[in-house]
Amino acid sequence: MTTRTLASFCTGVLLALATSAGAQTDVGDAEVTFTKDVAPIFQRSCQSCHRVGSIAPMSLLTYEESRPWARSIRQKVAQREMPPWYIERNIGIQKFVDDPSLTDEEIATIVAWVDGGTRRGNPADMPPPRVFAEFDDWQMGEPDLVVALPEPIVVPAEAPDWWLNIETEPLDLTEDRYIRAVESRPSLPGADKVVHHAVTYMVSPDDERGFLNEYAVFGQCIPNGADE
Ligand code: HEC
Repeated sequence: MTTRTLASFCTGVLLALATSAGAQTDVGDAEVTFTKDVAPIFQRSCQSCHRVGSIAPMSLLTYEESRPWARSIRQKVAQREMPPWYIERNIGIQKFVDDPSLTDEEIATIVAWVDGGTRRGNPADMPPPRVFAEFDDWQMGEPDLVVALPEPIVVPAEAPDWWLNIETEPLDLTEDRYIRAVESRPSLPGADKVVHHAVTYMVSPDDERGFLNEYAVFGQCIPNGADE
């Protein structure tokens, strides 16, 4: 998409927002502010990654932290690059639990906030901070079954990317079980710095493979230019 089409697309969205807001409320109320309009969107869709100790390069918890990134935020959300969400918006299944993607209206709100001069707004409008599980806790709650690697993998300090196939011991299950959800995480201290991707399969007793999930810290090395 060229800069020119992007700019006119965003203007169109802005106008639509101003008209519909103006129809229902005073002009004063139509002002988009961080505390009232933008912070709730960031809490729901950005902060799981954009906070200290998580995977994204900067924190978006507060106004002070977010404002310097306004221009880049505008661009990334208008182009639907952030939050990362690769589901086609008009084909196939659309309803996902914890879908972080933004509605057209939320994108218009963020764009209007930036174009309107990144107003802070009334501090009293700020929603209470979102509470997160610690980054190295299970994000989906305590699992019924933990499958660990047979032994720790030692990664050379300087080496190219390394893809390994690791099989765990057969599971010690006494009955058939349904898999409702799977979460993967590096578990040793500091391992989150070297585990870039992990693709997990289930292997049945007759050797059929079923893909379960992919863990990916796709951005961890990018900000300092060390990777990709
Ligand atoms: C699943 C994790 C995740 C979520 C959710 C997420 N981001 Fe990101 N974001 C990243 C990572 C990782 C990077 C760095 C790599 C990249 O740019 O792809 C990044 C980069 C960015 C950048 C570019 C920073 C720069 O260097 O210019 C912006 C802006 C941004 N995110 C804004 C947002 C906003 C706004 C939201 C919510 C609407 C959001 N992100 C949601 C993980 C996430």
